[in-house]
Amino acid sequence: MAALRMSRELTMLVVMVSMVQLLLCLQVEAGGPKKLVLYAHENRVPPNNTLIGSAAPNGNLTDEKFGLIKTVSNTLRAGPEADSEEIGAQVGIVVLGKDVLNLYISYTYYLNNASEYGVSTIAVHGHIDGVYEGNRVFAVVGGTGKFASVTGEDTSPFDAVVLDESRVVNTHTLTLRYPPYYK
Ligand SMILES: *[C@@H]1O[C@H](CO)[C@@H](O)[C@H](O)[C@H]1NC(C)=O
Ligand SMILES: *[C@@H]1O[C@H](CO)[C@@H](O)[C@H](O)[C@H]1NC(C)=O
Ligand SMILES: *[C@@H]1O[C@H](CO)[C@@H](O)[C@H](O)[C@H]1NC(C)=O
Repeated sequence: MAALRMSRELTMLVVMVSMVQLLLCLQVEAGGPKKLVLYAHENRVPPNNTLIGSAAPNGNLTDEKFGLIKTVSNTLRAGPEADSEEIGAQVGIVVLGKDVLNLYISYTYYLNNASEYGVSTIAVHGHIDGVYEGNRVFAVVGGTGKFASVTGEDTSPFDAVVLDESRVVNTHTLTLRYPPYYK
């Protein structure tokens, strides 16, 4: 009886060890950095501006700002210098809420082959309080490539660095987490 129980325990142990080995085999090569600083270069001078109002609300349902959608298409560069290498884009939308306190943002960072992350993306959603002058913190909600299934926070200061109106640098510091099934 005792021998039988022992053999069952041994069998269980073998099964468990096999499952752990299987899980180790299933680990996928992914998982980028835990911290990433991105420099989004903005231009505020028409016709080359990189933030434009692109859809106005219809009808007489709202005041003039509520419902306005702006499209952003900034250039990601390796550093804050205007001539540093282009490593991708920050493309997305800003939606104006019912008052200046409530704005919705959604954008994707696209990192091209010139970046050290190959062709990868990071998706961000968030809320902007239009009058709060502290750091803006947005949610990192996913990604692809090196950033597959990433989550975390994207923090940027209220004030961008304005070299001149055609060279505005928004610094984004991302703290990133990867699911445990990635190394
Ligand atoms: C807009 O961009 C074009 C192409 O890069 C450039 O030739 C032009 O000088 C820019 N215009 C302004 C106002 O900066
Ligand atoms: C919109 O509706 C309000 C309330 O009915 C009215 O007072 C206002 O004149 C309207 N505005 C326009 C631009 O039609
Ligand atoms: C990026 O580089 C890889 C490897 O050289 C290549 O296979 C891929 O086509 C490139 N992608 C783009 C969008 O340039």
